[in-house]
Amino acid sequence: MTNSIGRYEGEWAELVKLLNLGFAEPWSDAQLLAEQKMWEPARSIVASEDKELTGHTTSFGMTMSVPGGQLPVAGVSMVCVSPTHTRRGILRDLMRAQLTELHETGVEPVAVLTASEPVIYGRFGYGLGSDHQQITVPKASRALRPVAGADKVRVRYADPVEARPVTTRIHNDEALGRPGMFHHDARWESYVGGENVVTNTSGASPLRCVLASVDGEVTGYAHFRTRRTTKGFVDVSRVHARDLASHAALWQFLLNQDLLSETTYEQLPSDDPLLSLLVDPRAPKPTTADGLWVRLADVGKALAGRTYAEELDVVLGVSDDFLPWNAGHWHLVGGPAGATCEQTDRPADVLVDVRELGAVYLGKPSLELLGAAGLVEERTEGALAATSRAFLGKRLPWLDTGF
Ligand SMILES: CC(C)(COP(=O)(O)OP(=O)(O)OC[C@H]1O[C@@H](n2cnc3c(N)ncnc32)[C@H](O)[C@@H]1OP(=O)(O)O)[C@@H](O)C(=O)NCCC(=O)NCCS
Repeated sequence: MTNSIGRYEGEWAELVKLLNLGFAEPWSDAQLLAEQKMWEPARSIVASEDKELTGHTTSFGMTMSVPGGQLPVAGVSMVCVSPTHTRRGILRDLMRAQLTELHETGVEPVAVLTASEPVIYGRFGYGLGSDHQQITVPKASRALRPVAGADKVRVRYADPVEARPVTTRIHNDEALGRPGMFHHDARWESYVGGENVVTNTSGASPLRCVLASVDGEVTGYAHFRTRRTTKGFVDVSRVHARDLASHAALWQFLLNQDLLSETTYEQLPSDDPLLSLLVDPRAPKPTTADGLWVRLADVGKALAGRTYAEELDVVLGVSDDFLPWNAGHWHLVGGPAGATCEQTDRPADVLVDVRELGAVYLGKPSLELLGAAGLVEERTEGALAATSRAFLGKRLPWLDTGF
């Protein structure tokens, strides 16, 4: 029997039943409430069979940093197909409907998501656009190399909710210079920095907040929980600082707590100075994890929506099996001040699939590396190296918002 795809007009409670079945681990009441507050029902698309809900996808309207600015994007979430209906193409139909709608609406040229399983979304043209490091630092290996000014930084507890105006400002300022980060309005800040959203709070303290300050001015903050279950540890959820001294002071604090034998952080930026500052670089055992998956729903608008590290004039021969309007030759002219990207009949200098464009869209290195893996083809000598350099950002892209 075929499943029909359409707009969702049902209630949150019915959707929750599907999500609980699909994700195999029911959400806590607190999580349900937090998710419901974020849900934008008009963006939900569902599959149904005989009025039974069999699949769902939705997205949040978000503002994401890209090289040179910020763009409206669709943050895809709550993707789920009923376990009785998997592997018969429902996800494929939902993905196509969602991306087609983004293209037709014309406001959000890029879709992004975090994947429950990394093998799912490449086939729909999503590329892996950012990664981060999962680290655990034993207390015995907490020593950091000296950082000038770190001893002048005060670190003090604050109430996470009362401190939110200043912590949100620090977060959003950092987001401006880091592709892949999202602007947090009050709704997002209460979601990600709220008490409700943690999947597993067993044995955990409430969310703690410390502020770093220099000469009375707040220069950074960290959110974390402490846990004393089978072992005692510090579970870091975010660290943001305006300068290196404050960053180092916050980490000194997080790495050195009585009764707690180690400090873990699942989302350290891959270029975080902490990795260079630890005296014992082997200690954190960093493991690379996939971050943001990026899909150009509209190649022309997306590529024109960011800046480029160097002046670039190239024709990209783009393949896209899933969204036919993206396939073709695109003339990209860009530089540090901005870009245009129009369809053209000129021959291609570089052949690239939309998935690879998603992978480098935020500045993750690099198109040349993908070329070395046989995933990008150079047609004009030197064009791949030039395009690759131009796509790089000043800082590595980083995902710090769970959605
Ligand atoms: C992941 C999920 C949405 C897939 O839905 P589905 O309707 O079974 O997917 P489809 O039948 O449309 O599959 C499309 C393709 O993706 C593949 N695929 C889908 N889910 C996959 C998975 N988890 N692992 C590997 N391949 C997968 C299918 O084999 C198929 O491959 P093909 O194109 O080569 O034929 C569904 O299994 C689910 O809800 N899982 C639990 C919740 C979850 O993980 N959601 C995703 C949150 S990011």
